[in-house]
Amino acid sequence: MLVTGAGRGIGRAIARGFAAEGAEVILVGRTREALDAVAAEIGSAADAVTCDVSSEHDVDALAKYVADRYGWLHVLVNCAALRMHHVGDPSAFRKPLADVTPREWDAIVGTNLRGPYLLCRALAGVLRAAGGASVINVSAGAATSAEGGRAPYAASKAGLEALTRTLAAEWRDVGIRVNTLVPDQRVLTEGHHVELRAPEERARYVVPEALVPPALYLATSGVTGQRVEALAWNEANGFGGWDRWEARPERG
Ligand SMILES: NC(=O)c1ccc[n+]([C@@H]2O[C@H](COP(=O)([O-])OP(=O)(O)OC[C@H]3O[C@@H](n4cnc5c(N)ncnc54)[C@H](OP(=O)(O)O)[C@@H]3O)[C@@H](O)[C@H]2O)c1
Repeated sequence: MLVTGAGRGIGRAIARGFAAEGAEVILVGRTREALDAVAAEIGSAADAVTCDVSSEHDVDALAKYVADRYGWLHVLVNCAALRMHHVGDPSAFRKPLADVTPREWDAIVGTNLRGPYLLCRALAGVLRAAGGASVINVSAGAATSAEGGRAPYAASKAGLEALTRTLAAEWRDVGIRVNTLVPDQRVLTEGHHVELRAPEERARYVVPEALVPPALYLATSGVTGQRVEALAWNEANGFGGWDRWEARPERG
């Protein structure tokens, strides 16, 4: 299986969760040190490849590597994403649309929507070769909510969900299933520690591992074209609720 954004947060948790079930995992991200650290945690089942998912050149090189080294791919998890504070002022988690620069728009949509498109396109051959494969696109509540200040992020995730539905229909007959996985609660990752420092921030968070059971389900069940909300799915399927998954961060 291949996970983008595997160097930290949800991508790291999913990679570790699949490796614990015996999968070989290809960890993808832009930062070599972060990927190597996760690979060291996992052990010999992990392979780390640097790649900017918004770059056609990088993604094509990644696909060639996967084809040459493995020949097939059972699971692709598109988890890498950028939010407002990753592309502009690191303390600005929201920005009015009129202030969003075209460069910021392109960076967010480039990673969050163009990235999964490039990966699905370039990896279609190895996914087909697996003889039954699963693509999991990690979306966000922002795709359907009506909150200001996150237009490029929300638009990219709404686009990603549309891509999921259309690709599920297109690939239904070739044995590649495509689904959306949504963290329906805030997930405490390295990036979110920063947000917690705001005194007004008192939201509840879950740990990234909460995404693992529904990701395993989407990888192994027969469903396609579905949108699964992680914590709701866990609760409905006997994997626990807040009591099991709540993160208890130090409040700064
Ligand atoms: N955390 C939440 O509460 C939450 C809520 C709703 C949805 N989500 C979604 O869940 C997913 C994971 O979120 P997270 O909180 O775990 O994120 P995160 O901690 O910010 O990690 C994002 C990962 O993506 C990688 N990345 C970013 N741009 C990339 C690019 N162009 N090419 C390759 N890798 C790239 C980053 O590594 P490098 O910088 O080293 O490349 C990093 O490992 C995202 O799709 C996010 O939208 C999260």
